[in-house]
Amino acid sequence: MNTQTASADIDHVALLMDNVESAEDANAKAVKSTVLSPRFYTTDFKAMDALDVSSVRTEWDVMMKEYEGDNNHDHFQRDAAFVEEVRTLMPQLSPAMRQEFLDFLISSLTSEFSGCILYNEIRKNVSNPDIKQLMTYMARDESRHAGFINQSLKDFNLGIDLGSLKRTKAYTYFKPKYIFYATYLSEKIGYARYITIFRQLERNPDKRFHPIFRWFERWCNDEFRHGESFALIMRSQPELLKGVNKLWIRFFILAVYATMYVRDHTRPLLHEAMGLESTTYDYEVFRITNDICRQVFPVEVDIDNPVFRQCMERMLAISLAADRARKRGGLVGKLQVGLCGAKAALTFGRLFLLPVIKRELPKDIRMQPVW
Ligand SMILES: [Fe+2]
Ligand SMILES: [Fe+2]
Repeated sequence: MNTQTASADIDHVALLMDNVESAEDANAKAVKSTVLSPRFYTTDFKAMDALDVSSVRTEWDVMMKEYEGDNNHDHFQRDAAFVEEVRTLMPQLSPAMRQEFLDFLISSLTSEFSGCILYNEIRKNVSNPDIKQLMTYMARDESRHAGFINQSLKDFNLGIDLGSLKRTKAYTYFKPKYIFYATYLSEKIGYARYITIFRQLERNPDKRFHPIFRWFERWCNDEFRHGESFALIMRSQPELLKGVNKLWIRFFILAVYATMYVRDHTRPLLHEAMGLESTTYDYEVFRITNDICRQVFPVEVDIDNPVFRQCMERMLAISLAADRARKRGGLVGKLQVGLCGAKAALTFGRLFLLPVIKRELPKDIRMQPVW
């Protein structure tokens, strides 16, 4: 599919989004599990407890000191300017833009809270002091992040009931190694997403339509550090980065990238308001994430391969078609959804078979958030 058809399809993108008009809608959206929405995870706590990070002890202790220093302890407080900006800017949003922004807030909150729950559950279920301490710090950070976003939803009277979300949302079980690949990627991509938006709005302050974006720079340093923690864990267990596991790494990178690409293209207005364009923004985020992942992943997906780009567009087109079929309903709708599923699997298979770039792992594992 070419870019023109993709853009034409984007006009119908509202199909992918259920409008949020009430607190019930907002809570229902956060609870709902779809291919594209953030999930909650659980894992094998015994295996987590047995982790031994002694081979990266020096780097680990430096990182723990950073967590202990807690340089963001006073960051997630709203000031008077924040409240004033919300009061003046929010009534100016068009209804469509308001829906995209709410979708962004709800999915960001769900994903922050997902980290909070997972880290907290691991903390409660292990006695290994290294892992327990790490999980305590990361759960602390994610709880602040989720709470801060929820305050912005409350400005719209759409606050999410986090206790009920925790009880009612479905949990996906992942073996620890899959948790490491997936969570490492989501922390680092989270950093790349937030810093790209922050830098763009730093250059174009007139396009900052909500004050929350001013918080992103210090915020994403937390995410960067969370990613560093999983990088150290994986580097301390070298078998996770070898042999057949390299195929799992490739799988997770592609799954995370494709999900983000489709999801972001359902919010063209949000990016446009910031002076960004969804495709350009996503490739900038992929580029940063690829650069960072060299600290731990021995393979890198080639985002400049034209076939990679075609497949991303195709995944988007299939997702839009599947949503139209779902809305149509009936037997024909069901058959069409099934067909879309098969097409998506084929396209993903094609992505998976593309040549990857091999990377030698650096001696120094830690990286700094310099983007
Ligand atoms: Fe976070
Ligand atoms: Fe995080």
